[in-house]
Amino acid sequence: ITNRCFYFDEIASTNAFLLEHLDELQSGDTCIAEFQSAGRGRRGRRWVSPYGSHLYFSMFWHLPQGMTQAMGLSLVVACSLVSVLTQLGAKDVGVKWPNDIFFEHRKLAGVLIEMSGTADSGCNLVIGIGVNIAMPQQQGELIDQPWSDLQQMLVNPDKTILAKTLQQQLHKDLKLFEQKGLAAFSDRWHAADIYLGKPVRLLLGNDSIHGRYLGIDEQGGVILETASGQQHFVGGEISLRGV
Ligand code: BTN
Repeated sequence: ITNRCFYFDEIASTNAFLLEHLDELQSGDTCIAEFQSAGRGRRGRRWVSPYGSHLYFSMFWHLPQGMTQAMGLSLVVACSLVSVLTQLGAKDVGVKWPNDIFFEHRKLAGVLIEMSGTADSGCNLVIGIGVNIAMPQQQGELIDQPWSDLQQMLVNPDKTILAKTLQQQLHKDLKLFEQKGLAAFSDRWHAADIYLGKPVRLLLGNDSIHGRYLGIDEQGGVILETASGQQHFVGGEISLRGV
């Protein structure tokens, strides 16, 4: 199957575009834009997307297993990103649960997975990835957390090669995930996990739980060693902070 790539100079959001055209898409089709006027981040935040500076990439995937399997997916996508950046020559790329990509403890890329469908019919996923390539100074000053960009890690990072390698790697990893599940990614994840073994604070709604972070379980949830023993945490609204 030949995949299509929808390329835009300007668009509201590459994720939104694919979500609006689900019926016409095949697994592996992508959308890329130079500028997003309404880029979306996780937890309803905005993803500021200055013209030409970064990669704004989305890929469609139909997951036959349905929603229940979809949970571990964000970790799979993070693993794919680490593989791609490493293939392109980047060193010391790290991950933070569930799907932030870091370089020297500064955020390099973010993943936003949006889905529709039911358990029976499988589920349709739009995997959105934003990679900082060359942060404009003005934008950098506005970001409220430490950030990094590919320019700091690679000489002349090439956006086209990055997008193409990412499409191929995601394709390969999502197939692997369909066949073998999250277990096939556990080693890759833990090798890149920057919080492994560290004391952390887990924000769960209004609660804050302290413990030592022991990595991920088979479902992709967080394992914490707390005062009352080992506990597993699942769900989208959990955030993990170094203490
Ligand atoms: C995060 O908050 O960390 C996730 C950011 C995801 C941004 C990407 S850019 C391409 C795609 N289209 C969007 O509107 N968002 C994602």
